[in-house]
This record gives sequence, structure tokens and C-alpha cells, in this order.
Amino acid sequence: MNEHWWRSAVIYQIYVRSFADSDGDGVGDLPGIRSRLPHVKELGVDGIWLTPFYPSPGADHGYDVSDYVDVDPQFGTLDDFDALVADAHRLGLRVIVDIVPNHTSNEHQWFRNAVSDPQHPDRARYIFRPGRDGEPPNVWTSAFGGPAWTLDDASGEYYLHLFTPEQPDLDWHNGRVREDFEEILRFWLDRGVDGFRIDVGQALYKAPDLHDVHQPEPRPAFADWHTGINQAEVHGLYRSWRRLADSYPDERMYVGEVVLENQVELAKYVRPDELQLTFNFTFLYEDWNAKALRARIERTLEAFGAVGATASWVLENHDVTRLPTRYGGGEEGRRRARAATLLLLGLPGAAFLYQGQELGLEEVELPDELRQDPVFFRTNGARKGRDGCRVPIPWSGGPPGFGFTAGSPWLPIPADWTALSAEAQEGSPQSSLALHRAALELRRRIDALRTGSFAWRESPSGTLLFERASGNETIVCVVNLNAEHLQLPDGELLLASEPAPGNLLPPSSAAWTRV
Ligand code: NOJ
Repeated sequence: MNEHWWRSAVIYQIYVRSFADSDGDGVGDLPGIRSRLPHVKELGVDGIWLTPFYPSPGADHGYDVSDYVDVDPQFGTLDDFDALVADAHRLGLRVIVDIVPNHTSNEHQWFRNAVSDPQHPDRARYIFRPGRDGEPPNVWTSAFGGPAWTLDDASGEYYLHLFTPEQPDLDWHNGRVREDFEEILRFWLDRGVDGFRIDVGQALYKAPDLHDVHQPEPRPAFADWHTGINQAEVHGLYRSWRRLADSYPDERMYVGEVVLENQVELAKYVRPDELQLTFNFTFLYEDWNAKALRARIERTLEAFGAVGATASWVLENHDVTRLPTRYGGGEEGRRRARAATLLLLGLPGAAFLYQGQELGLEEVELPDELRQDPVFFRTNGARKGRDGCRVPIPWSGGPPGFGFTAGSPWLPIPADWTALSAEAQEGSPQSSLALHRAALELRRRIDALRTGSFAWRESPSGTLLFERASGNETIVCVVNLNAEHLQLPDGELLLASEPAPGNLLPPSSAAWTRV
């Protein structure tokens, strides 16, 4: 079937500072990524998503952008970016870049102007308000802990930041902000990017009255509770962004980081004239539980189907604990993660893989003194933060550099990752890398898996069984979460995450069978 490439694409997320370092400073960079593109190609994905590489003081590791149309010197140059895109395209890989429109860095020239002179027109790009009885203007809290407002001493007014104080929120009700971002999108579209991942996609517009919204304790992973964000205006903005993308050749696309649990609300972002994709984070916070996962899948397919959109599936990214660790860690955690790979890639729609997921990397327990994530500091250590999933990739060899760097990696790579390096897994048919490659190869080759219809089949409790069908081909995906050994359907066993002697699939494993 000839369909929009993004509908069933598998996109590989590259966390730029942790992927590959070409100059020995211990921090990943664009030339490093170029040198490792063959790994990505061989893995068999359709494209890459690059996390922010723009000039940034690094308060939130690049999600605090001080210039949207350049490359931070620690990551390379615009020429390096162009060369990376050219190489990727030559290999048949699409390139998605991250756009951060909710907030800038406090060192962006706009914000510098805004605080240096309250009369400066750039002040209106941000949300400055007088305090209330000596307190911030409302009770909103930052996603990273503490109040969402910081006092601008010079003017006596507060400014809003949903994240760190170094990430002041833009005021999207200001038409100039809208115009500027259109320019920024054009800049990258003209340079040949295939699309954008939109950071904090649901929060750009704030309710104009900035009404009090009390944060539930503990703060939920999803933003549905926050009635001051997820405003209707954002849909008009995304319609205009879609028109912009559609004015370019070769189907440029958007994937929204829309952190909403309500799938009906989420699906609004992917109505036919809005974004093509939105992440669906429901698997990130779900246990290894057949009933719960099935309910999530059903809700997603129903809500996305209702608006004619393709679903998407995510198990890992740079903001959450690595999957094998979430699933209990150790050998059992790793088995479950391998099984989940066949679930992820067996479901209909687009899928996202996070660098290192293909190697089965676990979360790294770092000593507090090495932590860098502002989440750790702003919560006084109550939340450990996200450094543990951002440890650089072990490519080959051993400590300290593991082929990631000739120097010392910005976060230490655990010594016992020697056996997990890409080089060590290469050639081992039992490895996580081999499983990912095999699954992606089948998904590319078999239409039923990639674009076929979806239907549940009956299965015992503790298992998931569904089929994907196209033409006269049917593939059955079986996931045995925690039932007894499960009889696989008759047919040709294409791939299993664990050996299935006698066609009996053990617990914590999954398989694809052609029936
Ligand atoms: C979501 C990004 O994934 C995360 O890493 C970042 O800290 C926040 N948005 C703020 O930009």
C-alpha cells in the first residue's frame, strides 16, 4: 500500500549529547552522529529525531534555546548539520528536529531585552505579571518543582516558567511570537528537515485569566489536570503550521509532544488538518499487565481511529526511566523489555525508539554529585531526575570512553556495559540488537505488519493476541506477559523474543507468527 510515510514510520530518537562524540570533549555532537548513521541505517528505522542542538546555556540540556536558527558550538556548525541531513537522506533516513516553542532560554536576546527594559516590545513576548499580596501572580507550579513564577527584581513583576526559571514561557497570544516561529520553521524546512517534534505541544497557550490551578500531589505524569493550559487556540496554530509544512514537497511532518492521558483530547491534535502524529505516552506509565495494556491500546485505537489519525507508540525517551528497569530490572526486566519490543513494533501506527533501547540498556544509578538534571536540584533531590537514562551509548570497547568519546564521557558509562556495547552485541543472534534488527526488517518487508489491519484474537488471561492482515497475509502477534507457557498459533514462527521450544511461548516473551 502506498501511504503517507509517517503513518507507520519507526523513528529513532537521538539524544544529541549522549550519542557519539567526535572531538573528545565528552559530549556528543553532530559529526559524531554522522559517523554512527550506519548503525541507525542497519537497525532498520525510517528516520531520526534529533533532540535540541541549538545554541543554549544548557540549563535543561538544550531545551533552553538561546538561538533557534543555529547550532551550539559544542555540537558543531550549520555546515555539520547540512552534512548530517545530506548523509541521512543518502541513506534513506528522514530527519526530524526538535522545536521548543513553549519557552526560550533566559539568555535569548528577546528575554534579555524584556528584562533590561520593561518598555521594550520584546517584553510582551513573555508573560510578566504583578504579584498578588507579595506572592506570585497565581499558584501554578513548575513541572520541575517549585513555583512557576520568578521575580524580575528590576521591575518588581514576576515572569512565568512552566519549567526552570531559565526557561521563560512565551506568550503565544502575541502575534509576533507566532510570526517568528513561522520563520524558524521555514528556516529548517528550507534546510531540508523532514519534520519537527514539538516540545510541550499542549501548553503553548495559557488561559488568559491565568486562573489558579492547584497541583495534585504527587504531581501526575500527564498534564490533564492543568486547566490553565491545553487551550483551544493551539489547534488553530497547528492548522497553520500544517499548511506551512504542506507547502513544501516530500511530506514534511510534525509529531507533538502532547502530554495528555485522555486519548480523545490527545486525538484532537491529529485531526486531518493538524499535526500528523502525536506521541502517545500511555505505555510509559503502565505496568507489565495484559489487561491494562490492552485497555490502553483499545482506547488509543478508538480515539485516533475516530479522527482518521494513525496511532503512535512509545516505550522510552530521554525523560523516563529505561524500560528494563521499569519492568523490574535484571534478567526479568530485560526479558519483558524484549517482549515489549515485539508488542511496540507489532501494533498499527508509528513507533519511536530511544537510542540505546535497541541495546537493552538499563537505567544507571548515578551518585548524586554527578547528577545534572535540573529536576534533581529543583526538588532538592526528592526526584532523582532523568540523568540515568541519558548516559552515553556504549559503542565498543570499555571504560571510560566505550567508543563514545576519546575523552571522558559527560556522565560515566558503567564498566559492566562492556558486554552490552553495540560491538559486543554485533553478531550475537540472541542479543537485544539482533532482535530489534530482525523485528524492524520484518516490519519493513511484510505489509501486514507495517500497514495491515488490526484485530484482537481471543487469548488466555495474562496474554495479548492480535492479528495484522493485508491481502492474503496474516501475522499474529502473541505476547505472553505472565500466563503459563502459551501455545503459539499454527503457522510459520517469524520471530520470538525468547526460544519457544515445542511452539510453547514462555512467560515474559512475545512472538510473531505468519498464519
Ligand atoms: C519535554 C522534553 O522532553 C524535556 O526533556 C524538557 O525538559 C521539557 N520538555 C522542557 O522543555
